[in-house]
Amino acid sequence: MQEKKIQFMHIILIYFHYLFDIILFSVYKSAKSAAWPDYMTDNKIRLLLLESNLSDARLIREQLAGDKTFTDILFATKLSDGLEILRSQNFDAALLNLELPDSSGLKAIESLLSRKPTLPVIILAGNNEENIAMEAVRRGAQDYLIKNSASISFLPRIIRYAMERKNAERELNKSLEKLTRSLSGTVKAMAMTVEMKDPYTADHQKRGTRLAHAIAEEMRLDAKVIEGIQLASMIHDIGKISIPGEILSKPCILSSPEFNLVKTHPLVGYEILKEIEFPWPIAEIVLQHHERLDGSGYPYGLKNDEIILEAKILAVADVVEAIASHRPYRPAFGIDDAIAEISRMRGVLYDTNVVTSCISVFQDKKYLF
Ligand SMILES: [Fe+2]
Repeated sequence: MQEKKIQFMHIILIYFHYLFDIILFSVYKSAKSAAWPDYMTDNKIRLLLLESNLSDARLIREQLAGDKTFTDILFATKLSDGLEILRSQNFDAALLNLELPDSSGLKAIESLLSRKPTLPVIILAGNNEENIAMEAVRRGAQDYLIKNSASISFLPRIIRYAMERKNAERELNKSLEKLTRSLSGTVKAMAMTVEMKDPYTADHQKRGTRLAHAIAEEMRLDAKVIEGIQLASMIHDIGKISIPGEILSKPCILSSPEFNLVKTHPLVGYEILKEIEFPWPIAEIVLQHHERLDGSGYPYGLKNDEIILEAKILAVADVVEAIASHRPYRPAFGIDDAIAEISRMRGVLYDTNVVTSCISVFQDKKYLF
């Protein structure tokens, strides 16, 4: 009986021992995750030091050696060596002297960031030059440090601040990307709504979108601008949801009052979209897609530079699609007629560069609807 009691006590002790271990491990894990943000691989900071002055490099290493947080301070005297190290290794921050033997000036910041965009870069400078410091920050550096013993003594703190700022920047970019994704999702949902109500307009918008995108790429516009053109094109005729279906699908030429009603669609589209804060001028593109260079368009009769480039591109894509495709009141004229029309009106109704790019898309790139 006594022996059984001892065995039972032994089992209970083992059980509590394991339980204690589990609790201890959980506490350690949560303390660790609270103390060290997830962008750091462990609780040590790995640093890349790009410094051609050996005595300065020694001073920096000595200063950081006193701080147990820092480990693996890799040292390179040339930018090319630093870039080579970055190819295969991860660092939490880089200290960069702008005067390296193979690189001079602020371009080194861009070289480092093009290799590792998430790397916090701190500039080490011999002189305090306010304009260079500002430009360095504009180009992506986190800080600009004048090399003297007083500032070097703050180096560990400066590096930690730079890492925190870079991490905050990364989080902000993630939020912006998320917001942009949800806004483009909103546009796609709107396009689907049009599709369900009016498949004919939806098909026209889809073909116009593909062509506007191809023209914008041919013009080598910024990716962000192209994205805005593409999204605006997807819903450029959204204002037509206010026009009765029997007018939109009428198999003959519209009467003057009917056509005047159709001409309200850019303004109706603008009213629908204007309150949404897109990172692209979606509402303005939709508003202006029937404006023409000579002022003969609608709704406002805008001229030349009063019309934004994105709307000029959409205008050409829209008219080419309209001429080339079937309409309820006439058969398709085909792409040759569409090209002839925009060529004839190049610089009169339609922007010269946009028309040239559109023709190139069809003739050189063999674009097909
Ligand atoms: Fe339209």
